[in-house]
Amino acid sequence: MKEKTQVGIIGAGPAGLLLSHLLHLEGIDSVVLEARSRKYVEERVRAGVLEQGTVDLLCDTGLGDRLRREGLVHRGIELRFDGRGHRIALSDLTGGRAIWIYGQQEVVKDLINARLAADAMIHFEVGDVRLSGIDSTKPVIKYRLDDREHVLTCDFIAGCDGYHGVSRESIPAGVLRTYHHEYPFGWLGILAAVAPSTEELIYASHERGFALHSLRTPEISRLYIQVKPDEDINEWPDERIWEELSIRLATNDGWTLTYGPVLEKGVTAMRGFVVEPMQYGRLFLAGDAAHIVPATGAKGLNLAVHDVHKLAEAFIAWYRKGTNDLLEQYSNRCLGRVWRVQDFSSFMSLMLHRYPEDDGFRGRLQHAQLEYVCSSEAAARSLAENYVGPPHV
Ligand code: FAD
Ligand code: PHB
Repeated sequence: MKEKTQVGIIGAGPAGLLLSHLLHLEGIDSVVLEARSRKYVEERVRAGVLEQGTVDLLCDTGLGDRLRREGLVHRGIELRFDGRGHRIALSDLTGGRAIWIYGQQEVVKDLINARLAADAMIHFEVGDVRLSGIDSTKPVIKYRLDDREHVLTCDFIAGCDGYHGVSRESIPAGVLRTYHHEYPFGWLGILAAVAPSTEELIYASHERGFALHSLRTPEISRLYIQVKPDEDINEWPDERIWEELSIRLATNDGWTLTYGPVLEKGVTAMRGFVVEPMQYGRLFLAGDAAHIVPATGAKGLNLAVHDVHKLAEAFIAWYRKGTNDLLEQYSNRCLGRVWRVQDFSSFMSLMLHRYPEDDGFRGRLQHAQLEYVCSSEAAARSLAENYVGPPHV
């Protein structure tokens, strides 16, 4: 089967789907190829915090209906340590900016609905995806669907296939410089059918390890505890998770954590990863395919959205005006933000997690940092400014 499109997009996560949507609004044709089923990508539980800039882009491009109705605006977060909570007033410290709580899988559902309503080509459950000719003007994606071999010829390819995808691997050896850092901890996350025991997110530092109380809706909570990166989930029956959460989140003033049925649980390692440049020939990498940040800063999804915003601008300039400056500058326009976010996510991670090898010195530094952030307006403003994220420029 021979097919043609303008932009071939690999991966129907937030990056691939949003890119396809932004291009469609400008009359640019794309085909999205996804290895998993529609049900799988719509149900995969991941991020929950959207920056103001992400929300603004979704709303400005017609994707805001349900987000405005069901999304929860948060104007502060809590840092909890020594049994006490300290509020970081995000909006007061950033001239009114805020974050929104709206599950990544809700963003994905909204995007798939919008794309299919516009008769988009999204192929789910494709196999054996291979890229060729990425240094030519007609790159090709070969894939299998329903036991048939397909050949898709494109003007450009967008590799939006996440950290484990094939796009990055298709770039010849020696072109990319890879930066990689493994943090010595992971997160065990649960989604629970219980009203959150807090109105705002709580980031807790405790001698037994970090804990985070987040949420999705007024009825659904999302919570995490620091564990080993290779922790065996079978060692954690639900009761043990709740007990550990309530120890790490405990306060001196009698705050209590309400337990409830666990709907989903999993362990994620924390890593920092960046490839430079994020492009080669006619292949452009976006989102987790090009970079990973530890989840402590709540930034991965937001960074993916920023990348495809810049990539869409570059493709639009090429198709509308025939200029390729923005395509050439794509990587540089993204990497400044990528490293800013890498630094912020590292700062949050280093401040809040217990280090297995700590002889006490690191713990004292962390405590001093937490005290500083909670007592100095300048330090709190710096955290807030990074947490809500700068506008897309
Ligand atoms: P993905 O969502 O990974 O999408 C890539 C897609 O490509 C997938 O659907 C995959 O199936 C598909 N694919 C892979 N290989 C192939 C192939 N060979 N062929 C075709 N398709 C392929 N970020 C935040 O901003 N805020 C948060 O609060 C937050 N919390 C998180 C909590 C957890 C526990 C985790 C794990 C992540 C969190 N993140 C958060 C990060 C965020 O989820 C990711 O950064 C985001 O999913 C990146 O989107 P993406 O589209 O680049 O990649
Ligand atoms: C989430 O709600 O899943 C979440 C919130 C904050 C983070 C990471 C994840 O830093």
